[in-house]
Amino acid sequence: MTNEELIAIAKEAAQRAHVPYSKFRVGAALLTAGGKVYSGCNVEIASYGATNCAERTAVFKAVSEEGRIRIAKIAIISDLSDFIYPCGICRQVLAEFADDDMEVIAAASDGRYEIRRFGELLPNAFRSF
Ligand code: THU
Repeated sequence: MTNEELIAIAKEAAQRAHVPYSKFRVGAALLTAGGKVYSGCNVEIASYGATNCAERTAVFKAVSEEGRIRIAKIAIISDLSDFIYPCGICRQVLAEFADDDMEVIAAASDGRYEIRRFGELLPNAFRSF
């Protein structure tokens, strides 16, 4: 699975975003260490705090299908012409299922992307004790 393929899957997921409030579409697609791909979109709720980001949708889909996962890489894309990175809550969720060397592929709407290692985005992550 190339980065470009993963971004294309994330972009497709973004089209299914439920965004009546922000109108801001986000899509994510992750590759597990076992080679499976799961995508997700953001799902907004009228009581805004119940909204789920695209990244968490993808993670929760993967965990609910497989039980135990490790994430090898995740691509994120939105309508923005700039790169998009996971929010703080999603970074903590990702920490549960990814090591510091996981690749975060932050894409812009035109498909350009840059890559960061997860450990750069959430240094000294709090993990299970
Ligand atoms: N959002 C995501 O889905 N992922 C991010 O990384 C940042 C924010 C969503 C949540 C909400 O539906 C909308 O973008 C505006 O915050």
